Amino acid sequence: MLQKNGCVSCHKIFGKWGFGGTVGPEINETTLMRLHDRLNSEEYEQWVVELNEMDRQPQASFRAQRAELLSASGWDRVQFWIRFRIQEPLFDSLDSQMPSHGASGPEAEIIAKYLVSIMDPEIREQRLLARLPDSFRLKHIAMSLIIGGAGGAVLIAVLLPMLRKRTGTRSQ
Ligand code: HEC
Repeated sequence: MLQKNGCVSCHKIFGKWGFGGTVGPEINETTLMRLHDRLNSEEYEQWVVELNEMDRQPQASFRAQRAELLSASGWDRVQFWIRFRIQEPLFDSLDSQMPSHGASGPEAEIIAKYLVSIMDPEIREQRLLARLPDSFRLKHIAMSLIIGGAGGAVLIAVLLPMLRKRTGTRSQ
């Protein structure tokens, strides 16, 4: 999907799809986190208020989308932003080198969801838990401690009398 829509020809994305794209900034944990912080800042919200007062096109036709974006917060807001940006990079800015994409609404939504799902701590946690449940991990550690401890105790119980015997015979 990212390839089909040409994203990778300008962006390196998580270092994975990196054949070429250096026109746009790399998209990875650091840049997505920065984007998250920028969109959830007071400065950004003020900027949207300013932009809403302008009559320029195409910005003026995206007031509804900007309102939708501001009604969400956190990573949901980032998801909206990526979605609208793919459809129209100028929806919240006066200047962008990123071209407006032919990506359909549903496609933009899938791409946005995907990029955000890698970052959103809630979704991340769910994924990790699905892979390796905490309770399982704890049980595993407890079991190895018990088995290791028991093994050590048996070894000491066997070796100690043998050592004692030896030192005993020598001193006689
Ligand atoms: C022709 C090159 C080009 C293509 C193709 C392109 N982008 Fe971009 N993109 C840019 C540039 C340049 C920027 C930097 C900001 C600007 O100029 O608007 C950017 C910014 C971004 C950002 C914000 C990054 C940040 O840290 O603020 C995201 C997210 C993004 N693009 C996603 C995509 C996705 C997803 C696609 C595919 C649907 C795509 N881009 C296709 C050039 C491109």
